[in-house]
This record gives sequence, C-alpha cells and structure tokens, in this order.
Amino acid sequence: MYRVAIFNPAPGVGKTTLGANLGHALAMAGRKVTLVDLDPVGSLCDSLGLFRPPSHGIDQVILGGVSVESVALSTREELHLVPPGEHLAEIEQADESGSERGRLLRQALTDGIPGTDVLLMDCPSKSEWLVASALLISDLVLVPVTCDEAGALALPGLLETIEQFSRVRGRAIDYRVVINRMPVRRRLTGPAAGFIELAPGRVLKHTICQTDPIAQARSAGRTVFEYRPDSRAAKDFRQLATEWLATVDVS
Ligand SMILES: Nc1ncnc2c1ncn2[C@@H]1O[C@H](COP(=O)(O)OP(=O)(O)O)[C@@H](O)[C@H]1O
Ligand SMILES: [Mg+2]
Repeated sequence: MYRVAIFNPAPGVGKTTLGANLGHALAMAGRKVTLVDLDPVGSLCDSLGLFRPPSHGIDQVILGGVSVESVALSTREELHLVPPGEHLAEIEQADESGSERGRLLRQALTDGIPGTDVLLMDCPSKSEWLVASALLISDLVLVPVTCDEAGALALPGLLETIEQFSRVRGRAIDYRVVINRMPVRRRLTGPAAGFIELAPGRVLKHTICQTDPIAQARSAGRTVFEYRPDSRAAKDFRQLATEWLATVDVS
C-alpha cells in the first residue's frame, strides 16, 4: 500500500480538492484507493457527497481497538473513504504525537488496508500532530500550492518542514509539488516558473486550472468527473493522475 500525505498547512490551497479528484482519477485508472479525512471538519466527506458523515471514523482508530477498514466506507467503485469521526476535533487539540494514540494511528495506517493500493491522507490545516503523523508514515508527500506569489513564498518553508521530518525519519521523504489555481491559458511562467527553481524535478508538469466546475462540483458533493466529465477540470485531474502514476512506483 502506497501512502500519500497531502500537505500544506495554509487553508484553501486545494488539499481536499486534490484528495477527492486525484483519488477518483486514480480509482478510475484501476487503482484501489482509500481516502482518509484527517480534517475534523470533514471537507473530504462533503466533497464526495457525504454531507452527514457517520460518527465513527479515524477517531475510533486513534482511540484504539478499531481497524481502519472497519470504519472505511465505499463511496465509488474502487474508492473508499475513512471519515474523521465525531471525536477527531477533540483529539486534534491535544498533542498525541508521542503518545499511545499517535502510535496507534501511525501503526494502523502503516499496516495497510486489505485491498488498498493507494492511501491518500487529506491533512488538516491546523493540527500539528495529525499532520506530523501523516508525514512520518508517508511514501510521498503531495504539496498543493496556489499559482501566485503567496504560493511561491510559502514553498521554501514547506520544503524545510519536509526536510525536518526526513531527518526525524532518518531518510529523505519524497515529495511532489502540485500547482493549483493556474489561470486558464497561462503557461508555467511568472510566479509559477519560480516553483520549478525552488523544487527542481519535483514539480508535476500538469497543473490544475482555476475553473468554476471545481468549486461547483465540491458544493454538489461530486467529483469533477461526475459533475462535468468533459470539463477542463476533469482533463486536468486525469492528466495529473496519469503523470503521477508514471512518476511514482505505486506497486
Ligand atoms: N483550481 C480550483 N478552481 C476553483 N476552485 C478551487 C480550485 N481549487 C480549490 N478550489 C476551491 O477552493 C476552496 C478551498 O479548497 P480546498 O481544497 O478545500 O482547500 P484546503 O483543503 O487546502 O483547505 C474549495 O471551495 C474548492 O472548491
Ligand atoms: Mg481541506
């Protein structure tokens, strides 16, 4: 099972959007995908139409005694979702990284989920210990950044954080940068070109454009492939998934 953390503590940069749509694209490409909603507000659940998610989720895994697969829900063909659960909000307040709870979470996500090829963890913007747990067990970190000056300014700090966790783990954590909110009809120039210099060889060539169907699909609780399969957004995520599968060894 290949584990991916979607990481960028800034809110609104597209972590959840990437989780839902890349997850669905990978599932449609034949991979068995499990998404983990590590954000207590449950945005990933909303994105997949689960506007009232079940009360049990990853919180029960952290509290102990429950396997990840027992709280995973089947949402689409080959696409499972682990909701946050009603207690994740309290749990994220405390720093559980060094505790038994932190160990239980990391162990459960490392053990593997039967029948899952790719585990995508949608990190919250707040909780440091949940994010740390995801980074410590991931095979790859996906870093969505907005295609603007704020995104370019934030990237060095994000890469430094990944570097710090690499040191804790004792080996380099692989990562890829995904450029989001690219203005339609713009090439990778201006601020976006700076991303390639900051993270040479690590910026995915395919970007996600800023388009209305992405936000509309989210409000409708659908992925872009369901909401507008012929849209630019669907093409962007399909191409991103293809490039990603060609770049990393998911097997
Ligand atoms: N490329 C895009 N085009 C249009 N809207 C987008 C795009 N990326 C994200 N959004 C919208 O921006 C909002 C924040 O995105 P989200 O994925 O929730 O960010 P995060 O998880 O990093 O907080 C959502 O309403 C989402 O639909
Ligand atoms: Mg989010």
